[in-house]
Amino acid sequence: MKNILVINASPNQSDSYSRLLTERFVELWKRHNPNDTFIFRELGNTNIPHVNQHWVKAAFTPEDARSTEDKLAITFSDVLVNELQDADVIVLGSPMHNLSVPSTLKAYIDQVIRMGVTTSLAPGTPGSPYVGLLENKKAYLFLVRGGYGFGKGEIYEHMDFQEPYLKAILQMLGVTDVTTVKMNHTTMSEEQRSDSCTNAQAQVDALFD
Ligand SMILES: Cc1cc2nc3c(=O)[nH]c(=O)nc-3n(C[C@H](O)[C@H](O)[C@H](O)COP(=O)(O)O)c2cc1C
Repeated sequence: MKNILVINASPNQSDSYSRLLTERFVELWKRHNPNDTFIFRELGNTNIPHVNQHWVKAAFTPEDARSTEDKLAITFSDVLVNELQDADVIVLGSPMHNLSVPSTLKAYIDQVIRMGVTTSLAPGTPGSPYVGLLENKKAYLFLVRGGYGFGKGEIYEHMDFQEPYLKAILQMLGVTDVTTVKMNHTTMSEEQRSDSCTNAQAQVDALFD
């Protein structure tokens, strides 16, 4: 039995293409794995606190030396970290916002990157100075963009700070088995949007072939 963590970062509760894709994925997963369990973490429509001075002090104080105030400062971070640690599969739906991810997702990332807990430093490691501490996890990314041209060899490839960023963060956490489904054109013509949507939905379906 697997535990699936589903994270949605779109501020749009309805008419959201990233939510459409994560919902389709969840529906198909349930059909194929009826005994698996799900946890849903809403980001787009909730307040994820930014890290502040109390958080930083607490996170970088050894656990057995933390004051009551320290513990309080990272209580929510602990909840989010536990969700990640308990997940076998991480499903993330996210729009592109200003070439990157919505600020709520960035705030979430800052809450769950915890030195010595979810990641660690190992300078000299080829390719990355980080060694992630989350093990045996698979991630699915459902990434949507209003525009287009962010793919490999395409005109705006150099402006994509969404997919490469999320993959680097997942690697920092130790999650290297990552499958991505992308949908472009969501704010373009009805025809382009519809074609992209059909294509992305087919890619989701193909994950279960
Ligand atoms: C604040 C904001 C910034 C955006 N920035 C970009 C962008 O840089 N590039 C892009 O292609 N689309 C951009 N979009 C469009 C969204 O990625 C697009 O509408 C997407 O479908 C929203 O996700 P959703 O359909 O899951 O709600 C932006 C939208 C918003 C609201």
